[in-house]
Amino acid sequence: MCGIVGYIGTQPAQSILVSGLEKLEYRGYDSAGVATIVEGNLDCIRAKGKLHNLRDKIEFATNRAPIGIGHTRWATHGKPEEYNAHPHTDTQRRLAVVQNGIIENYRELREELKKQGHEFRSETDTEVIPHLICQCFADGADTLMVAVQQAVHKLSGAFAIAVISADYPDELVLARQQAPLVIGIGEGEYFCASDTPAIVQYTRTILPLENGEMARLTRDGVEVYTFAGEKVNRTPRTITWNPIAVEKQGFRHFMAKEIYEQPAVVRTCLEAYLDLDWTPASSKSPFKLDLPESIYKDLENIQIVACGTSLHAGMVGKYLIEELAQIPTAIQYASEFRYSPPPLVPNTLTIGITQSGETADTLAAVEIEKSRRQNKDPKYHSRLLAVTNRTDSAITRVVDCVIDTHAGMEIGVAATKTFMGQLMAFYFLSLDLAHRRGTITPARLSEIITGLKVLPSQIEVILETQEKYIEELSHSFLDTHDAIFLGRGINFPIALEGALKLKEISYIHAEGYPSGEMKHGPIALLDAKVPVIAITMPGKVYEKAISNAQEAKARDSHLYGVVAASDKDATEIFDKVLPVPDVDELLSPVLTVIPMQLMSYHIAAMRGLDVDQPRNLAKSVTVE
Ligand code: F6R
Repeated sequence: MCGIVGYIGTQPAQSILVSGLEKLEYRGYDSAGVATIVEGNLDCIRAKGKLHNLRDKIEFATNRAPIGIGHTRWATHGKPEEYNAHPHTDTQRRLAVVQNGIIENYRELREELKKQGHEFRSETDTEVIPHLICQCFADGADTLMVAVQQAVHKLSGAFAIAVISADYPDELVLARQQAPLVIGIGEGEYFCASDTPAIVQYTRTILPLENGEMARLTRDGVEVYTFAGEKVNRTPRTITWNPIAVEKQGFRHFMAKEIYEQPAVVRTCLEAYLDLDWTPASSKSPFKLDLPESIYKDLENIQIVACGTSLHAGMVGKYLIEELAQIPTAIQYASEFRYSPPPLVPNTLTIGITQSGETADTLAAVEIEKSRRQNKDPKYHSRLLAVTNRTDSAITRVVDCVIDTHAGMEIGVAATKTFMGQLMAFYFLSLDLAHRRGTITPARLSEIITGLKVLPSQIEVILETQEKYIEELSHSFLDTHDAIFLGRGINFPIALEGALKLKEISYIHAEGYPSGEMKHGPIALLDAKVPVIAITMPGKVYEKAISNAQEAKARDSHLYGVVAASDKDATEIFDKVLPVPDVDELLSPVLTVIPMQLMSYHIAAMRGLDVDQPRNLAKSVTVE
């Protein structure tokens, strides 16, 4: 949440900062701002709302200052108004600060600083930082680096900051504590950003700051220190991915492009994690997950922590692990787990799922699990696995091992292709566990593997045959205020995911229920104005799911069915059918989620909403 950028070099900073912020807008878009140093003074420009409002206010031709910082905000403390936009400055407007995170002790600091004569102009937590740095100068700090260092010692919370000062026009100072910050190294020019896409067009050489580290960027180089002031030697690394991956490539929205990239995500995961030449006669394992043996040894329990869409992938994962590998698996919202973790049980694998690798609650849940299992009997020792799309992210530094979801950069705030990568991770993990434990027959294993291999072309069939139809259907949702999604068994999480997608981008109230629960209350909501979207795929709960759908139809609801292509009765039961290719029930979530994504996308686009940047949301949730 919130994106920060910084630049020091020889080129005009403003355009570099704004182009960096464009790549970070997925982290928040309530307001934006930039600060530069012009002829010994700070020039700070801020605007409420999306970045184009800021862009309209900047006169790029007149300000050629070669140093600056920028920010795009997701409001935590204080309304999304211009006076709360970053950068924030001290009373004399000599220092400017941008921050990503939350300063938890800002109230006490603010009161203390007010008593010392500092004048506050915003409602934000961040504003204490420039005043605090200014106070550190007043108390004797003799360099910008020292003043920032003294200030960060007084801050509690999770934060990443970038600071410039009109009195130190040739340096940019950074600090990182639990929020991402990466330095970009060019020739005679240096960058910083919350995420690499903001700087990759200028340099591929990067140096991520670690927690508890600060950096001083000048035109001569980068110095990294710990908060305690010890110098740290760090070797930069080169990133290999292509910036073209973050363009829309002819699609109207990133979300549409990302929905269409899902067959490729499945193919990449198949190549990465499956020996494609494996046959049941082979004595070798078909899987290439490359997890340490300590993860598997005497494994008795699994617990999964995640948020939002990642939690839904985890719910499918729980189903797969229990069904295939027969290992009891618990799943909990990371935000609940962190304050009420369950009692410790031995030989437990904890899996944190997070596409961004940054979600504060998921990170905290995994860290809690790590620390509470320290100094215990070895069978209680932590075993931590992250399923993530960012192998360079914060969670990867906490866990023992990682499954990369190989989805590529996802820009649309609504997760689609990263969810697909997460599902793939759980297919391979659960099958790998089942194979090792002997809980699956070679014939069944071979059947599922064959099914996995055809999924990419089956997704393509849905995209090719259903998209136009779903686009037309979306018009019937023009006046819809509420919608219900139903699923049973392994497709219950897909009903939840369908409802989440619809609410987050089209602002239609939607709920997902296990079909069998409807009659225990929610059925009272149904009438002709409330459409019901039911997933009824052949398998062990097919008949039950059909009966539950019919109960909804009997209450006058308009009934949409996500059904198997071969289901000839479907057109009699449902008002509209959304067929997907016939598939093993266990693999069906990979297909049933596609019409859900297309529906929510087209309904939001038809309503003229900002599909990629829905209101109040951000791609990366780095605050609690
Ligand atoms: C929904 C969505 C969110 C995220 C959630 C967790 O489309 O994107 O619900 O799934 O914020 O994010 P990660 O996976 O980054 O931990």
